[in-house]
Amino acid sequence: MNLRSPGPTPCPEDVLQAMGRQMIHHRSPAFADVIGRVTEGLKTIFETKNDVFCLSASGTGALEAMTVNFLSPGDRVLVVSIGVFGDRFATVAETYGADVTKLDFEWGTAADPQAVEDAVREGGPFKAVLVTHNETSTGITNDLEAIAAAARRGQPGVLLIVDAISSLGSIRCQVDEWDLDVVATGSQKGWMVPPGLSMVAISERGWKAFEESKMPSFYFDLGKAKDFLAKGQTPWTPAISIFFALDVALGHLVKEGVDAIIERHQRIADLTRSGIKSLGLELLADEQHASNTVTAVQVPEGVEWKTLYQMLQDDYDTLIEGGQGPLAGKIFRIGHLGWVSDKDIDLTIDVLRQALPRVGYAVPAASRAS
Ligand SMILES: Cc1ncc(COP(=O)(O)O)c(C=O)c1O
Repeated sequence: MNLRSPGPTPCPEDVLQAMGRQMIHHRSPAFADVIGRVTEGLKTIFETKNDVFCLSASGTGALEAMTVNFLSPGDRVLVVSIGVFGDRFATVAETYGADVTKLDFEWGTAADPQAVEDAVREGGPFKAVLVTHNETSTGITNDLEAIAAAARRGQPGVLLIVDAISSLGSIRCQVDEWDLDVVATGSQKGWMVPPGLSMVAISERGWKAFEESKMPSFYFDLGKAKDFLAKGQTPWTPAISIFFALDVALGHLVKEGVDAIIERHQRIADLTRSGIKSLGLELLADEQHASNTVTAVQVPEGVEWKTLYQMLQDDYDTLIEGGQGPLAGKIFRIGHLGWVSDKDIDLTIDVLRQALPRVGYAVPAASRAS
């Protein structure tokens, strides 16, 4: 199957095979070896010297962990939202009793750093700014470096908590250089690993907030994660097979190097966007902020997305995801993160070229000839 979802993503053969290994015990030296190597590999790709932890949970678990460990009920937080996942972060914070101020931007656009600075300066003080780096629902990458700097101009030292779930490991996210306090990603995205682990980095400022936090936590208590990691363990039984997979995948990623990974995603994203335009289709994103991990495309006038979605799977063995929330039926999204080649993208564009006329969209003649 040509799985072109923005997560879960396809995995290389050796990563899949690593998961077929016999179990080891999570309190054994063998596991300590694995978690030690994985943690070091993650620090390299996160470009950080901060602590990094692996939680056996999907990305939403990380959003919850980033909330309950660093905030207290009643804390004022600014949530910068440009889509479904920014909204989800706000909902998680509200669920645990944070006093959320939302700064919303039109879906399909990026957050304006100046507006973030103004909101922090004029509406603050805030305990934290919560922001999504790459909004998977709209295919937009926020200028996180500029947003972090703007937030700190608005309020020096404000805590920055970042959902980098669909960016880290694919799109530049310099945790230390940009002074990000708490940053999370998920194994099923650019890491070329199945779902099951989320990974969270925590700065010194983050640990100070952890000491002050009064929200209840048990499974996601990162203080326990720290104590256990010092022994080469996790507090609870981890997703051991996913650790095996991540160990192998990180071997590839660290060898490739961060710069090469970022460039590869840029190149594949450019190829996707030019392929889409060659079909006469329109991107949702303003191109300056278009994501290098997922491309959101407007469903053309008169095309029934559900029909196309099903046809792509039934007749072309290709899965492309639809829009979420208010964008359902209006856009579709092509994932191009992790283990993806030029050939996969060429195939995807070709499949669309064949399928679209069957659902009532006339592909431009120049594209048909190519
Ligand atoms: C930016 C972003 N945040 C959060 C999530 C939620 O992660 P999960 O579905 O792994 O719980 C996703 C998943 O697609 C995401 O892309």
